[in-house]
Amino acid sequence: MMTTSDVTTDARKVASSSAANLGEQPITAGELNATGVCAWFSGRLVLEDVDLFMERHAVTALIGPSGCGKSTFLRILNRMHETINGAQLAGTVELNGEDIYSPNQRATWVRRHIGMVFQRPNPFPAMSIEQNVLAGLRFNRIKTSSKADLVEEALTKAGLWTEVKDRLSNMGGALSGGQQQRLCIARALAVRPSVLLMDEPCSALDPASTLRIEETIADIKEEVTVVIVTHNMQQANRVSDNCAFFLSENGKPGHIVEVGSTVKMFSAPNDPRTLDYVNGRFG
Ligand SMILES: Nc1ncnc2c1ncn2[C@@H]1O[C@H](COP(=O)(O)OP(=O)(O)OP(=O)(O)O)[C@@H](O)[C@H]1O
Ligand SMILES: [Mg+2]
Repeated sequence: MMTTSDVTTDARKVASSSAANLGEQPITAGELNATGVCAWFSGRLVLEDVDLFMERHAVTALIGPSGCGKSTFLRILNRMHETINGAQLAGTVELNGEDIYSPNQRATWVRRHIGMVFQRPNPFPAMSIEQNVLAGLRFNRIKTSSKADLVEEALTKAGLWTEVKDRLSNMGGALSGGQQQRLCIARALAVRPSVLLMDEPCSALDPASTLRIEETIADIKEEVTVVIVTHNMQQANRVSDNCAFFLSENGKPGHIVEVGSTVKMFSAPNDPRTLDYVNGRFG
């Protein structure tokens, strides 16, 4: 018979063997496919029948007025939705063809491969810049032969290295808002995710920091598939390859009106509501 401590030891063995040297592996962008996704909060349907394919090596922007379910959909893509009390969902989400909700798939595994950056920068304020970058490795028990190299690589990719390389031991909380957000991006990239989800990552930032993050997104998209929620139509136009337009009309659940290449969505979309929205005529 297996005792509790055997189970724990076994689980640790599995975790450490499967996690060994993941820090050494190259980042490879993954493709995400959501089908028939519905979401409820305390029995209220807020998102209905969403199908969306998110291509690798591309940036997909989720656009639409407030309350149409963009953040909810984003959280479903890395199993954050299930952490909310009263939240339910239906449908499937596959990363490279693998169901992220299959019973034998651990949520921590999913979140390591599908990382997330939030609206408000959330570095660990009392940890150093270096410790912040490495925080995800410790949590996921990822080993790496050179922490210093990984810190430099992640901070370089996030466009922050030159600004902080001489003060890596300073606290994360001592950086500017824009720098803190880039630190959060570096922390997310350090575990080498296949997909990076970003929920309005620039909405709390000034124009210069926003531009810096947009450059970062352009730099990393070959290695990490990016899905970004933004209310800023110029930003969606600048950074994304594809756009999905979400809408919740007259209190009905949010759904996707139209998906297409960003060029088409901003110039000649199929649905007149899309053109009205991207031109700022509502929402
Ligand atoms: N934790 C929650 N509990 C209950 N209802 C929620 C919760 N989070 C979101 N909702 C509801 O779900 C719907 C979709 O919300 P969501 O935050 O996904 O919209 P959004 O498109 O991201 O909006 P915004 O652009 O304002 O961020 C809304 O009706 C919202 O009130
Ligand atoms: Mg939101």
